[in-house]
Amino acid sequence: MDFFNYKNNRLFCEDVALTDIARQCGTPTYVYSAATFTHHAKRLQDAFAEINPLICYSVKGCGNIHILRLLAESGCGFDIVSGGELFRVQKAGGDTSKIVYAGVGKTDEEIRQAIDAGIGWFNIESGAELENLIAIAAEMKATPRCALRVNPDVDPKTHRYTTTGKKETKFGVDIERAANVFAQYARNPHVRLTGIHLHLGSPINSADPYVQGINKAMVLIDRLRTDGFTVDTLDLGGGFGADYTTGQAPDFADFAGAIIPLLKGRNLQIILEPGRSISGNSGILLTRVLYTKKGGEKNFVIIDAGMNDLIRPAFYAAFHFIWPVAPVNGFVVNHRNETPNLPGLQKVDIVGPICETGDFLARDRMLPPLARGDLLAVFTAGAYAFAMSSQYNARPRTPEILVTGDSFRTIRRRETYNDLIAPELI
Ligand code: LLP
Repeated sequence: MDFFNYKNNRLFCEDVALTDIARQCGTPTYVYSAATFTHHAKRLQDAFAEINPLICYSVKGCGNIHILRLLAESGCGFDIVSGGELFRVQKAGGDTSKIVYAGVGKTDEEIRQAIDAGIGWFNIESGAELENLIAIAAEMKATPRCALRVNPDVDPKTHRYTTTGKKETKFGVDIERAANVFAQYARNPHVRLTGIHLHLGSPINSADPYVQGINKAMVLIDRLRTDGFTVDTLDLGGGFGADYTTGQAPDFADFAGAIIPLLKGRNLQIILEPGRSISGNSGILLTRVLYTKKGGEKNFVIIDAGMNDLIRPAFYAAFHFIWPVAPVNGFVVNHRNETPNLPGLQKVDIVGPICETGDFLARDRMLPPLARGDLLAVFTAGAYAFAMSSQYNARPRTPEILVTGDSFRTIRRRETYNDLIAPELI
């Protein structure tokens, strides 16, 4: 669910008409709904309340400092994967003791910065990394808290590029090897290795993979405890789906219903690392039709946003629902699915201005008739959308606009041509 809805034949974000934002801010632009962010964070907290998890919002999905501030104010901690993300959280005024830090390639500099910042947990991805952390911690006279990321070899049934909990991926330590890592390092005085971390992949649209992963993790935790090790934390990672089509993602309550019984009374601090389930439906990409043309059997709709602004369709063959902001024939849809069943639709490819055939946001999509100047909304573009954008083809990045009720503000300005070359003026 989200706060993007049609009223009187026009799309609104909360109480602001997207036509107004386009007029004042131009296109292409990302538009976020503050209420959707906070609503999703609260729904997740409520669904898992019985086991009182620490919710560490995954910065990589949508890391604008104004969004991070909003979520910090809602009580969230943060899941980070780089020194840059740590910097973002600090600039947003987030509580660094509620940070979990994953990533297979943490540099010495990043490790030092994170120790200095007093982060909550290092999520350790290899024995070699842990050894390096121990050396740096000894030198800094710190004892950072760690969780070992285990690879449980569970199939999350998602795109192969975003599958992370299968053995052939680079992430974590094989669960069979985890006890050895504890035996080798858990008694080292320079670290406190007392947690287990899992992240299976994303998006995950069923509780099943979590159940399998948790069951495997609990066998490991029981064994470690029997062997005399302290295990006080279990971080389940992120991956909960978002509604790319209406009703696609299970409710948080469905995930919670399957997960809580496995964890209740096990004396563990539970951590969740949601990204897209909080941010995905909180944003859209607002774009304008530049031209339409025919090519062979195809009808092309050329828009002012491209794969540099939103790479997910090109990169993962991801589906994003697209619909006019003010459809000419009055066909508004508040139920988003892949084949809207309405008369008078036309099959089109929605493509960008980039010089690549892979530059499309939708292919063979049924849409109402479109003409130059029409505004389109690309939905569920709050996660891995602006965050993965680039300046490819020397295109300045879009602004980000945050709507709160009936007002909106720019939380990142549109880049200029000077922004393109500023780092080159050395
Ligand atoms: N925790 C860890 C350790 C992660 O690696 C990720 C995502 C998350 C949490 C958050 O996952 P989420 O809840 O957002 O699904 N660019 C891809 C997704 C890459 C996900 C990377 N890791 C996409 O556009 O679908």
